Amino acid sequence: MTIQNKPWEAIKADKAAAYPENAFGKRPVYCYDEIPSTNEKAKELALNGAEEGTIVIADRQSAGKGRRGRVWSSEKGSGIYMSMILRPKIETEHIPGITLLGALAVADAIKKQCGADVSIKWPNDILVAKKKICGILTEMHIEEDGDCYVILGIGINVNQEKFPSEIENKASSLFLETGKKTDRNRLAAYVAESFDGYYRQFAKEQNLSFIVDRYNQILINKGKTVKIYHGLIEEAKEEQIETGVAMGIDTDGALLVEQNGRIQKVAAGEVSVRGMDGYV
Ligand code: BTN
Repeated sequence: MTIQNKPWEAIKADKAAAYPENAFGKRPVYCYDEIPSTNEKAKELALNGAEEGTIVIADRQSAGKGRRGRVWSSEKGSGIYMSMILRPKIETEHIPGITLLGALAVADAIKKQCGADVSIKWPNDILVAKKKICGILTEMHIEEDGDCYVILGIGINVNQEKFPSEIENKASSLFLETGKKTDRNRLAAYVAESFDGYYRQFAKEQNLSFIVDRYNQILINKGKTVKIYHGLIEEAKEEQIETGVAMGIDTDGALLVEQNGRIQKVAAGEVSVRGMDGYV
């Protein structure tokens, strides 16, 4: 295990001449060749008092976690698996907003480095050419003294050359969509840099009004009819599925959905959203 301020040296497969070295600043960055899950390691570090902004990054995860108990495939040498420890001084109800900031930070970083057209599937899947490139798993823990910490876990499919046939119609990598290999170290640094800016502003304003327009601009669901699943998609019964037109997010990060002329607010974390014919 190494602790260093140059995580780009930890992912040895990629070496590039110039990195935005300041993006990681002076914060602690824990780099691993392989661990079960960067979110789990970050949790352990947070419990032991690690400071806000601490990053955990791994070249491979042996037990990468996705949302809703799913597995996040995390093979060696091709993806970004990183988690950031946050200690937000905001009301607990605003914390889900952090996930949306993470999604926007990843979208910015991909656009900046790869020039690819990125969209977001609410609340936090990042897509290129309608296929999922990145997922975010935000976990919140309230300590006994009432203090809370949040682990923002980000998984990006960067240089994978293929996906299993059962998911290749909905998952992809930056390599498959752009035809170019991407420097993972630099991309990870851009994500951290972009997230920091959003997070600082969120801490000041305590709501998401400053990202609403930008987020809605790249929101793939906007203006589309969507299905809202309460509970696991695979097991959803008829009465757990609602249909409506997604209008965009509000300043809390909730998705506004129009149903029979009425606007309903759907909170992130409670539901899954799908398009009428599949993933988007
Ligand atoms: C999703 O299901 O879309 C969320 C996937 C989140 C994966 C990332 S990879 C880094 C961090 N560590 C984990 O175990 N999971 C998250």
